[in-house]
Amino acid sequence: MVDVLLGLQWGDEGKGKIVDYLADKYDIVARFQGGPNAGHTLVLGKDKYVLHTIPSGVFRTKVQNIIGNGVVIDPITICQEIDNLSTAGIDFLDRLFIGEKAHLILPTHRLLDAVQEASKGEQKIGSTLKGIGPTYTDKIARHGLRMGEILLPDFQQRYEKLKALHLQLATAYPKVAFDLEAQEKKWFEAIARLQKLQIISCEYFLNDALQAGKKILAEGAQGSMLDIDYGTYPFVTSSNTITSGVCNGLGIAPQKIGEVIGITKAYCTRVGGGPFPTELHDQTGEDIQRAGGEFGATTGRPRRCGWIDLPQLRYTIMLSGVTQLVMTKVDVLDGFETLNAATAYLHQGKETQQVPFDVAVDVTPVYKTYQGWQTDTTTANKWSDFPAPLQQYITELEEYLGVPFRIVSVGPEREQLVIR
Ligand code: GDP
Ligand code: IMO
Ligand code: MG
Repeated sequence: MVDVLLGLQWGDEGKGKIVDYLADKYDIVARFQGGPNAGHTLVLGKDKYVLHTIPSGVFRTKVQNIIGNGVVIDPITICQEIDNLSTAGIDFLDRLFIGEKAHLILPTHRLLDAVQEASKGEQKIGSTLKGIGPTYTDKIARHGLRMGEILLPDFQQRYEKLKALHLQLATAYPKVAFDLEAQEKKWFEAIARLQKLQIISCEYFLNDALQAGKKILAEGAQGSMLDIDYGTYPFVTSSNTITSGVCNGLGIAPQKIGEVIGITKAYCTRVGGGPFPTELHDQTGEDIQRAGGEFGATTGRPRRCGWIDLPQLRYTIMLSGVTQLVMTKVDVLDGFETLNAATAYLHQGKETQQVPFDVAVDVTPVYKTYQGWQTDTTTANKWSDFPAPLQQYITELEEYLGVPFRIVSVGPEREQLVIR
């Protein structure tokens, strides 16, 4: 079976930490979409690692790690990640496999990302500028470059052709500073290194593994509200971040999907532009940001903070067929006297449980207030360690959401969690 772990909000729910924790029970961890826009943080003892393209199973020495066909790969970033891990003594290249149909991010994809964002002015998406949008655009336009092509004798010509097209396109936008020559040099050095890695048919590899009874964990990137089809368009990323993305991204049939594990923070954050109904623009928002260390793992930007949004979570649970929930960063709320959860929206004068089409302009959350627990939860390791108000918060939320919380995380470290 392929179990899936994905974010139910706008990303940064703590996927990296939970995948690393769960990976022990799997043979394979596979990334199915996204690219270096992701930043998955793992804290192991005094060491902190941020992974962008490499799956979060690498720290488990028996686990094979697949970068699936649905992922977009920047050769420069992936080589930097490999170097950082090697320096830290993590030996994993024999356990790393890359899908041959995964698309490549060219330096000029990053250039296009930058000029396109520059042209949007106030309406900019707040992209990580890693070239994600332009790379997926080329994939859909049917002229992208794929991993498997780096092994072909005419790869350089294919590259030059696509680059020329990009440079042509870029003239339609405002100019930005970009040292293309320097980036190209690094890119081709990285390509030479990628040529020596294990480039595979991801779909045969994984289906053979399933046939052999192996257990696979699919690791999502971004969050469900950033999904290209169902997120807060156009303030989204360019891939399918929900369960359906697993089938496309890995070449797995839907009936092979087992558990779908959805992650939410005990509150909510978003980095970049776009609607966020429960966002707090006051001191409480700042308090959450400070207590939660809410700064982007990829870009370092401050994350916008707000209360947990239950209609939003019900929506993304529905889209992905979530069978169990994880709540992270509960400890961040330890100091709060009271907390809120949005239980409905006011939309066009009526109360609704649904996320409306025009969520950007016309939605007011209806809140229920909960008593805070004002207790340090960071050393809790069983349910009975939790103070009663926290137990009540979690129990009421799962009743509302209709899916149980199986894991509650109380700190960044691998073992800082409670299993129910
Ligand atoms: P991801 O993109 O979903 O993997 O999440 P990020 O790594 O971008 O952001 C999550 C941040 O919260 C990281 O700095 C984690 O180390 C940290 N984190 C994860 N779980 C917890 C938790 O339960 N409590 C606290 N305080 N931090 C956590
Ligand atoms: P992880 O996997 C949070 C956001 C960006 C921007 C929008 C589009 O760490 O949860 P893109 O670079 O894809 O063109 O950006 O999506 N975004 C993320 N926000 N976590 C992420 O990944 C994100 N990846 C992209 O901030 O608003
Ligand atoms: Mg992140």
